[in-house]
Amino acid sequence: MKSILITGCNRGLGLGFVKALVRDRNPPNQIIATCRNLDNAKELQEIANENKNVHIILLDVTQTETFPNFASQVEEIVKDDGLNVLFNNAGCSPKSTRINFVNTEQLVDTYLVNTVAPILLTKALLPVLKKASEVNKDLPLGSSRSAIINMSSILGSISANDNGGLYPYRCSKAALNMATKSLSIDLQKDGILVTALHPGWVKTNLGGPGAPMEVESSVKGCMEVIRHLSEKHNGALYQWDGKKLEW
Ligand SMILES: NC(=O)c1ccc[n+]([C@@H]2O[C@H](COP(=O)([O-])OP(=O)(O)OC[C@H]3O[C@@H](n4cnc5c(N)ncnc54)[C@H](OP(=O)(O)O)[C@@H]3O)[C@@H](O)[C@H]2O)c1
Repeated sequence: MKSILITGCNRGLGLGFVKALVRDRNPPNQIIATCRNLDNAKELQEIANENKNVHIILLDVTQTETFPNFASQVEEIVKDDGLNVLFNNAGCSPKSTRINFVNTEQLVDTYLVNTVAPILLTKALLPVLKKASEVNKDLPLGSSRSAIINMSSILGSISANDNGGLYPYRCSKAALNMATKSLSIDLQKDGILVTALHPGWVKTNLGGPGAPMEVESSVKGCMEVIRHLSEKHNGALYQWDGKKLEW
């Protein structure tokens, strides 16, 4: 993997991925890390100052009209090599969960960040993803060629739902899973793999302090999955330890 773009890198899992990638024995030539506000990204900025392969680009994923300009900035960085991996990581979950408290704003806002943005960002970045796939056409389907990873959640699995509630989050991730499946079918002819990943229940702002996993262990497992992506992952949902999950 020569290049990877990750959304939502100022904290949580996104920041954890950037930290792990710069420490890797064989780091990507370009790590494009997005955040929506530099004031909230001090640690990410320090990493970028110390590692010339880290490029920060500002991106609020709800501002979908900025995606074409964003894609041009990415193209300037990756040039003729294209982009190997798009990691749609940025996500949100409103606090209130039960049917009596859910409202239009929560549902729509969550759907915009967790579902609409990954689909439209994929659309905007297709030319650079296709370029990487073409440049590496002798390689098998995977992250060294061209791949899109959608950060999903087991909470988006319909078959694993035995607790109800969480309408905005569960519905937005279930819809992201469906987008993952459709993209995997549509982009197979271009040699681009598309998969959905569940990182575990992790101690972040979103996961909360009661989560059993630390960012570092989730990231370590997810990186192994990403490194070994192959045909079997295309259009499917996997978790941090390599186990396949049902939709
Ligand atoms: N933690 C878990 O247990 C868990 C479990 C399953 C799945 N996930 C998924 O993992 C991903 C990362 O979550 P996390 O646990 O690292 O949560 P987090 O610590 O709350 O981080 C969320 C990230 O998403 C960014 N983000 C939110 N809205 C955005 C927007 N409109 N535009 C751009 N960036 C935006 C945040 O940026 P700001 O700081 O600017 O808000 C932040 O960088 C999410 O997709 C989440 O659904 C997490």
